[in-house]
Amino acid sequence: MQFKGKVIKGTGYGKKLGFPTANIDRRDFYRRKLKLREGIYAGLVERERNGKKYKAGIVIGPKDKKGLLKLEAYILGLKEDIYGERLVFYPLAYIRAFKHYKSEAELKKAIREDVRKIKKSLL
Ligand SMILES: Cc1cc2nc3c(=O)[nH]c(=O)nc-3n(C[C@H](O)[C@H](O)[C@H](O)COP(=O)(O)O)c2cc1C
Repeated sequence: MQFKGKVIKGTGYGKKLGFPTANIDRRDFYRRKLKLREGIYAGLVERERNGKKYKAGIVIGPKDKKGLLKLEAYILGLKEDIYGERLVFYPLAYIRAFKHYKSEAELKKAIREDVRKIKKSLL
């Protein structure tokens, strides 16, 4: 299972948390009528420009103001600005549901734990 899209502007909140994410447009995802459960996945992200694949924390959802699921990924080991590039997302293993945390500290702790799982997963 995969879908692709162009990197679009997010809110910048991921960066503030210390986990910058690449948000992609939803055209391909909805055209394929993918029925993916909302939540956090361990997976791979491929840069179309050079075919390089990276382990990533892929977040599917929640829905934005338009009622469309957000598609974003925290890409491990990627420091460059990839705004405007085309990426392929491969969500491979479901980790957990998206959750509304009471504090930013709890959210960061949860993301750190996700990243730990992704790093040690045999993708
Ligand atoms: C692996 C991972 C898991 C996340 N899980 C949650 C979550 O469960 N609840 C939450 O409110 N935000 C979670 N976030 C953060 C939100 O998705 C955050 O709002 C987002 O990264 C901001 O993106 P933007 O700056 O591209 O708009 C997670 C982020 C990552 C990278």
